[in-house]
Formats: sequence, C-alpha cells, structure tokens
Amino acid sequence: MRVDIVTCLPDILKGPLEESIPGRARAKGLLDIHIHDLREYAEGKHRQVDDYPFGGGAGMVLKPEPIFACIEALASSGEPIDEVIFMTPDGEVLDQPMVNGLSLSGRLVILAGHYKGIDQRVRDHLVTREISVGDYVLSGGELAAMVLVDAVARLLPGVLGDATSALTDSFQDGLLDAPAYTRPADFRGHVVPPVLTSGDHKRIDAWRDEQRLRKTQERRPDLLDQRNTSSD
Ligand code: ADE
Repeated sequence: MRVDIVTCLPDILKGPLEESIPGRARAKGLLDIHIHDLREYAEGKHRQVDDYPFGGGAGMVLKPEPIFACIEALASSGEPIDEVIFMTPDGEVLDQPMVNGLSLSGRLVILAGHYKGIDQRVRDHLVTREISVGDYVLSGGELAAMVLVDAVARLLPGVLGDATSALTDSFQDGLLDAPAYTRPADFRGHVVPPVLTSGDHKRIDAWRDEQRLRKTQERRPDLLDQRNTSSD
C-alpha cells in the first residue's frame, strides 16, 4: 500500500513512522509512505500556506492553492488514489471496521490540516473522506494521521509475524481483548491464572472468550449492543 501524507509540519511525522509496526512494514516493502511538505507547493517568496479568514475571526486558514497543487501533482503520478482523507475532529469517528476497509486500499492520501483552519473548498472538491480519531481536539491532524496509518499498517498482509494476532485484537470481532501474562508465573505472590499454564488449549480458549465477554460487559457494554444488533 502507498500512503501520501500532506502536512505543513513534516518533521512531526518522519521519526515516528520509521519506528514500530509502520517502520517494520516500510522496511519489508509492504507500506510505501511519502510525506509531502505543503510549503513546497506554495507560491511566492514567503511560500505562504495560510491566510486570514474572510469575515474575520481567530486563527489562520490553510489556503486552497498549495493543497490543490500538491494533491493534483500526486494524482498525476503513481497508482490511482482510492481516498483523499482529511483528518478532522468533525469527521466520521475512526473504528476497527473503517480501519479494516481502508487497509484494502492500494493508495491513500491523508491531509493533516488545522481544525477550522482549512479552506472549505478543499473539503468540498478534493477530499473524499473526513475522519476523526475521537471526540477531542488535537493541535493539528498530524498525530491523527499517525494513528490512522499505524492502525492500517498492522493489518497489511505480512506485517505482523503472527497472522492471527491482528484478528484477535480488541474490537476485531466487537469484543475487548483478554488479559495477557508472561513469565514468571509467580511474581511477588501474584500468580498467573492456572488455566494458562495447563497446556489445555480448549480450556484456554474458553477462558479467554469468557474474559473478553466479561471485560466488554464491564467496560464497553455499547459494543455488545452493537454486536447484537449487527447479528440480528
Ligand atoms: N485534528 C484535530 N483534532 C482531530 C481529531 N480529533 N481527529 C482527527 N483530526 C484532528
């Protein structure tokens, strides 16, 4: 998969996307990430990417020209773009089914802008999807873009060593994950549930299913309601 991220703050993204799962996916050639500095597409001596809002008000607004120039240049090179995603707190809230769907794309363009601070014509005529990472406001879309790329990267075939591991993630079947333990079996008198060291895989699976259900009931009963409605 190819991902193009368009931003005025490219340095925020460079380091983190070289680490962990996205870094591993890139090293294996399964994820091709390109980070584009909007300033390089801005005209004039000062390469200005934002301007004052028409009608007044606080804060600056990202200008349409550099964004159109950048995304049009991207569209004219390489494989077709499946979605142009704008990260914004007033978008659709990201969840696992959305991540699963996006992980099937060939190429995504992600635009990290500023809330209230992007010319509406970009949203009306360029963006195909608007995504929020939750009901809170970040200073910009860069961290949100990283959340999206990380969640998608771990689903790409061949990225995770253990192919079943992404499928048993919390949310993947509408349930939270079971508790995990590792050695030592007795840490300061806190012992691992004996079933996990029993070697009986049927019992272990049953224990994990029960734990997942119980945790979901306690912490996220809304997920169980959704699950029941979707299986009706
Ligand atoms: N930009 C600022 N806040 C955001 C959020 N919650 N989700 C996506 N993009 C954002």
